[in-house]
Amino acid sequence: MSTDPINLDAALASIDALWSPRIVTQVNDYDVRIAKVAGDFVWHSHEDTDEFFLVLDGELDIALRPDGTAERTVRLSRGDVFVVPRGVEHRPSSAAGASILLFEPTGTVNTGDRHDDLPSHIASTTGQALDG
Ligand code: NI
Repeated sequence: MSTDPINLDAALASIDALWSPRIVTQVNDYDVRIAKVAGDFVWHSHEDTDEFFLVLDGELDIALRPDGTAERTVRLSRGDVFVVPRGVEHRPSSAAGASILLFEPTGTVNTGDRHDDLPSHIASTTGQALDG
């Protein structure tokens, strides 16, 4: 982990792959991850952890299926934060593309503990090092 300051714009500029989170730094046992996204992710849920989103650029939609209630979608714009509660099925998507920051326990799998069949453009990962 770097002991120097990390510039998020420079970090984002080093990423080509979509839906491929990079670990920027760690805080106690949490990762700060960034990702570039476009199109649809996959429906999934994290049984044991909430998931924090901050939109750095663009717009991110998060479709949610809370237990026993109707599906709804929240739209996040640059500077918006949102937390998906543990156990709630969700599917991030971005029609025009977005850059996002995630804050979640180290080891959290991006596709959750349960997920729909993975399309070819999505891989399950706990995040890669920024320079990896
Ligand atoms: Ni998630």
